[in-house]
Amino acid sequence: MSSSTSPRTAALIPAAGAGSRLGLGPKAFLLLGGLTLLARSVAALAPQVDEVVVALPEGLELDVELPPGIRTVIGGATRQASVLALLRATDAEVVLIHDAARPFAPPEVIAAVKAAAWEMGAATAALPVADTLVRSEGDNWGQPITREGLWAVQTPQGFHRELLQHAHAEAEQSGIQATDDAGLVARLGRKVRLIPGDARAFKITTPGDWALAQALAAFWDKK
Ligand code: C5P
Repeated sequence: MSSSTSPRTAALIPAAGAGSRLGLGPKAFLLLGGLTLLARSVAALAPQVDEVVVALPEGLELDVELPPGIRTVIGGATRQASVLALLRATDAEVVLIHDAARPFAPPEVIAAVKAAAWEMGAATAALPVADTLVRSEGDNWGQPITREGLWAVQTPQGFHRELLQHAHAEAEQSGIQATDDAGLVARLGRKVRLIPGDARAFKITTPGDWALAQALAAFWDKK
């Protein structure tokens, strides 16, 4: 793990989801080319941070094998609750939040998010939208949406820990549930820097994603 004059940085990995849309059991523990999604995500982040903390589903926390030095907490009923549990487990100055369900995060994206998070307070990997976008009306084509200026948000996302903790506390107080952390910071009126992400950092959600991940694993591991 890194140690230098840069701020103390923790990777916080929510891995406590049920994986219900994929239907193969808790997603983070699926084996892809001999390694779990969680092990791949930990391996991607660990070289660039001072500590790694993982949120596991309740009941699985005793069965999971992780490299030495990796701490675990029990996650919550939502991703947001799992990230809050992770935040309470670290006092690092900068935190990188990364979904266990995104096993192929390129090192240069992680490094760029980390640098921007320290400089700006908040940053996220994101990809400019490439497809034509349309809002459906029932099963039909409804209103087209211009894709100009639209980004699909990925992880890692990086923050000054105190800022993200504040954003989570505000969200809890206001009863806001979000699907990511950058959104919680942005709703406070704070700037979140968009860092060009990578198509390979896609989140495994559906059976189609799982098929793509299996194909990609062989190439990724040859690097
Ligand atoms: O469900 P989704 O794929 O959006 O989850 C994104 C990440 O958040 C996954 O790595 C999942 O394990 C994690 N998660 C969590 N606790 C939950 C729900 C999801 O840690 N209650």
